[in-house]
Amino acid sequence: MEKKGTKKIETKRLILRRFTEEDAKDMFTNWASDPEVTKFLTWPMHPDVDFTRNLLSEWITHYEDGAYFNWVMELKENHEAIGNISVVKLNERIEEAVIGYCMSRAYWGRELMPEALKAVMDYLFDEVGVNRVAACHDSNNPKSGRVMDKAGMKLEGTLRAAGINNQGISDKVWHAMIRSDRI
Ligand SMILES: CC(C)(COP(=O)(O)OP(=O)(O)OC[C@H]1O[C@@H](n2cnc3c(N)ncnc32)[C@H](O)[C@@H]1OP(=O)(O)O)[C@@H](O)C(=O)NCCC(=O)NCCS
Repeated sequence: MEKKGTKKIETKRLILRRFTEEDAKDMFTNWASDPEVTKFLTWPMHPDVDFTRNLLSEWITHYEDGAYFNWVMELKENHEAIGNISVVKLNERIEEAVIGYCMSRAYWGRELMPEALKAVMDYLFDEVGVNRVAACHDSNNPKSGRVMDKAGMKLEGTLRAAGINNQGISDKVWHAMIRSDRI
């Protein structure tokens, strides 16, 4: 594996890039303060933009680490920061990356997250050299599973009462793609 870190990735409609502190306002307004976005996430809604700014300044210090993958999704059409996709766990021994993502409700339904996830998966397989990219969602949040399907991951199974998020203890539905699945 080559730990190349958070490199800029361009897709048809998005620029995936490193966060800067200037993204705090968009991040707070567009997704971190929205109870619908954070409903099935493991972190609570942000109370104010200063909280978001402090979190970003902490995240930014990790960009020197090649094992840190955390992109802001910038929409090309208006240059707004509309979401976040990251590696929430890098399991180096089995060359696995576990992905998490969330996005502004105003942009749901345009298949922007599948576009971002596909691009991140390509980067992780082709540039970083992982063997497996996985993701999981709360069984009550099937729309996230649709993103995984659309990006080409396979459904692997459900771990019952294995997760906890803002809704409490939940069943986790796992999806993944391994290198040999790729055509
Ligand atoms: C899950 C999420 C990333 C989907 O991103 P997206 O870019 O809207 O993805 P898609 O456009 O492919 O839509 C995926 C599914 O979401 C659902 N969906 C789309 N627009 C929706 C809307 N406005 N309201 C409710 N559900 C919607 C649909 O079921 C859709 O599947 P379909 O295309 O088969 O009908 C986004 O809804 C989100 O950020 N949710 C909150 C955070 C979250 O749950 N993150 C994942 C944690 S595991």
